[in-house]
Amino acid sequence: MSFTVVEPATARLNRSELAVPASNYRFIEKAADSAADVVFLDLEDAVAPDDKAQARKNVVKALNEIDFGKRTLSLRINGLDTPYMYRDVVDVIEQGGERLDLIMIPKVGTYADVYALDMLVTQVEDAIGRDKRLGFELIIETALGMANVDEIAAASARNESLHFGVADYAASTKARTTNIGGPNPLYGVLTDAAVAGASRDFHWGDMWHYAIARMVVAARAAGIRPVDGPFGDIRDAEGYRAQANRAAVLGCEGKWAIHPSQIELANALFTPSEEEIARAEAILSAMQQAKREGKGAVTLDGRLIDIASIKQAEVLVDKARQIAEAG
Ligand code: GLV
Ligand code: MG
Repeated sequence: MSFTVVEPATARLNRSELAVPASNYRFIEKAADSAADVVFLDLEDAVAPDDKAQARKNVVKALNEIDFGKRTLSLRINGLDTPYMYRDVVDVIEQGGERLDLIMIPKVGTYADVYALDMLVTQVEDAIGRDKRLGFELIIETALGMANVDEIAAASARNESLHFGVADYAASTKARTTNIGGPNPLYGVLTDAAVAGASRDFHWGDMWHYAIARMVVAARAAGIRPVDGPFGDIRDAEGYRAQANRAAVLGCEGKWAIHPSQIELANALFTPSEEEIARAEAILSAMQQAKREGKGAVTLDGRLIDIASIKQAEVLVDKARQIAEAG
């Protein structure tokens, strides 16, 4: 292990993260009854400029009046380059009570963006004597943000997660996309003519692989959660599952739901299976037995178990416990 110890962020379930336009109060009420682990009330891109002020009022009213249960509640504020952001922060923290858990910062480009928000949030929290410190969710969705992703991930003790905002990322990098967060038929490889002869196959590739893998590394190195962003075709559950699975395989803890129908898909995909949990529990009990017997090496079913598998088993069992507690 390195001598540098990375402190993990506050542990939270983050399998599904539901986006809710704050301009629509009915949608906010419905979100409170949903099965989403995290709900983010959106003041940014889902809200037209003329509706920003009303959406902010809706958030304050919802925070004071709606029972959101145990789920994590977040607020997506407007970007730092807009005239709305300061008031999003000040009004909602001053008037919204203690219920809000997180602030989601869109289009983060540099370390300094997070630093600036940390300063503003700290001032408002201190001024009103807020008991609970707000955490930060950061959307990596620009070329600048991806270029600075390591520094951004480590920019504040408030940081809890990085999110891959694929729609804006495509716009920023001028990538050629079709469906938001989906594959592009042009991105793939043709098997080599010298080997495959006349029957060459075209294999579709994942054009978002680098971006997600890069974000996962930055997030994990900073002890925070990587979360995959939106999938645009809300009728295509199979497509959603495929994109969520590949994000989970790379290490993401969850995925956005831009429609309520995507919540259950995400919850199911990011919940460890019963076999995985049973295997993890078996690893931990084999380790405990080896300890009792004073053995250095741990084996299970004839195979040596290393420290990395024990750690993974602990994480998995802990996640299963959180899911059971969430009901
Ligand atoms: C999310 O904000 C995105 O741009 O994909
Ligand atoms: Mg975006």
